[in-house]
Amino acid sequence: MEHIAFENGVLYALDQRALPVKEEVVALRTVEDVAEAIRTLLVRGAPLIGVSAAYGMAISAAQNAALDADSFREALRADARLLAGTRPTAVNLFWALDRCEREILRELDENGGDTRSAARFAQALAEKMHREDVELCRRIGENGATLLFDGARVLTHCNAGALATAGYGTALGVLRAAREQGMRLKVYADETRPLLQGARLTAYELYKDGFDVTLLCDNMAATLLRDGKIDRVIVGADRIAANGDTANKIGTYGLSVLCKAHGVPMTIAAPLSTIDASIETGAQIPIENRAGEEVGHFFGVQTAPEGISFYNPAFDVTPWENIDAIVTECGVLRPPFAEKIRALFAQKDQTDR
Ligand code: MRU
Repeated sequence: MEHIAFENGVLYALDQRALPVKEEVVALRTVEDVAEAIRTLLVRGAPLIGVSAAYGMAISAAQNAALDADSFREALRADARLLAGTRPTAVNLFWALDRCEREILRELDENGGDTRSAARFAQALAEKMHREDVELCRRIGENGATLLFDGARVLTHCNAGALATAGYGTALGVLRAAREQGMRLKVYADETRPLLQGARLTAYELYKDGFDVTLLCDNMAATLLRDGKIDRVIVGADRIAANGDTANKIGTYGLSVLCKAHGVPMTIAAPLSTIDASIETGAQIPIENRAGEEVGHFFGVQTAPEGISFYNPAFDVTPWENIDAIVTECGVLRPPFAEKIRALFAQKDQTDR
């Protein structure tokens, strides 16, 4: 099975918390189930959070289809608020919810208040967003592959792969595309404490796909870069501000500082839906703080004394000055980014009209 599938009104998702030890599929039957799955990282990664939320809206529409049009509208908006309250940083969540709410309610208005038809539309929309996400990742991959060469050694952080998207991946999509073009790559994956997305998910999916992958603890990256063993760092993003400042998994900022110190280019690979053009800089990006237990425990085993305080931001912001390129489905942007991002959105507005 794919790691995400929608059948008969149920969202089936591979439980990413159990990987790589168990490949367990969980059935998400209600909007509350989907919200809990996003909150607890059963599904995670910015684009996959967006697609899961779209399916959450399809479940909401189907389960409220017996209501009159006004109550349907209200219930849909309440469910969008529930899903929006799960995780604050990845803008793809809010982008997907806004799109679903807007398009489903427009359909309801245009069809004269037929809630059952709006529910069918909501499912078709989520399925379309699912397909679009895979397609966008393939284009990001093709664009990003132009930055690589045969024999390139690439370091990545967290998981921006097929598992973090509807399929193919953003940062790992670049690696997949390069390999499809015949390039041989050596990939290094940071384990990504505290939740080990690099070890549990990136190493898992790359190894399964036959990549040459080497795992390291996060604190080993500095030595690897100093020793000249990395040609390019490629990571994904949870939210990119209008000036190119980028929020991604905690540790990305530190990696960008190391890249600068050692003259290694740092690349961000993400779809346009990850760019939040409404905020000027990364200082405005809300950063999720997670439970201290994730730091004081290692997968259920206590590793720190009880009673101390913990610091556990899930993301950090890399300033645009540390980024060599931002790769989207529309091409490769080079710094300074502000003007280029503005032009990209102006062009998009024209074509969307
Ligand atoms: O907390 P997570 O696992 O959802 O964090 C994921 C990341 O930081 C990814 O790098 C980012 O969402 C990009 S995924 C294509």
